[in-house]
Amino acid sequence: MAALLVFVALGVGQAAANFAASPGFSGKNGATCTACHTVAPVGSTPATAVFQGLPEAWVPGATYSLTLRVEGGPLAKPAPQPQGGFDLASDGGRFQLQAGTETLFHLVGDQEATYRPAGTMMREWHVDWVAPDLAVRPAPVRFWLAVLAADGNHVVATNTSDGGERFDSVAALTAMVPPSSAASAAWNALPLLSPTAQASRASNGWEVAGRHGDGNATTIAFRLDTGAWERRDTAASWHLAFPGLSGVHTLTIQSEGAGRASPPLVIALPGSGDAVVGATQSKSTPATLALPLLAFAFALLARRPVP
Ligand code: HEC
Repeated sequence: MAALLVFVALGVGQAAANFAASPGFSGKNGATCTACHTVAPVGSTPATAVFQGLPEAWVPGATYSLTLRVEGGPLAKPAPQPQGGFDLASDGGRFQLQAGTETLFHLVGDQEATYRPAGTMMREWHVDWVAPDLAVRPAPVRFWLAVLAADGNHVVATNTSDGGERFDSVAALTAMVPPSSAASAAWNALPLLSPTAQASRASNGWEVAGRHGDGNATTIAFRLDTGAWERRDTAASWHLAFPGLSGVHTLTIQSEGAGRASPPLVIALPGSGDAVVGATQSKSTPATLALPLLAFAFALLARRPVP
């Protein structure tokens, strides 16, 4: 896989004279800049990657100003020789260039940011990250950063293949940011769409056939009258049987899934002597009924290993 990616990138890189060959080498796909920058620098400390500005936990839609830096590595030749470069990728939210940096950096899709040639004249870079919204369930977002401390032996002005990829030092890191508890609470507070259901008399009791109204629903929760809630994992349509049930009852059901619940649906099950025999009744109750919020604990996910 990594070999294939390197092969593809080499093809792309040749068209771009190889100097701007960094996209796809953040480490997200396995390979970093070391795929090509293989010849180690001489007599310098190894490079280290620095990644600042990520929150402890992300808030939906919030913008975070990130600082990326490479420290150590070979001393660069003076400008206009390259000083360094980076490639940054994530699997959530989107990167955004800061005003005035369009000539230095560029985005590759929403979830990758890297340098333009002018962005190699420095060893610290700035880009914004916008946290995900609530369109999908809040989840930890991972980041991959690869940085390179250049010794500056590539001549950008001529930009020919000149062996400038040698004697540079590469460092990489990954980070993980969980959603904030506010993000999870906001997600959980969004109700699922209600299920639909029909009750019918069975030879011995009642049967209820229903369908989830929400694609996130995976469980049907139900209770008779004020009894205990029971839960069953179901497919999109489901079936409940109440054999031997007599007397007048109220069945309350709700769809659950992805840490969320629908408003309850209340179905009357009239007694056997009742005049409405055979009728199917179902009505949804107003949302004034307290919406049971499922406690959905985002495990204290791995704290981000940022140096
Ligand atoms: C597909 C191969 C390839 C990959 C992968 C690659 N580079 Fe390069 N890079 C080159 C080549 C080749 C050069 C030298 C210029 C030339 O010959 O076109 C170079 C030169 C550079 C230079 C100038 C070095 C100097 O000393 O002047 C910087 C900065 C740079 N690359 C950054 C990066 C970064 C950052 C990454 C990883 C995110 C990366 N490169 C990944 C091929 C690659």
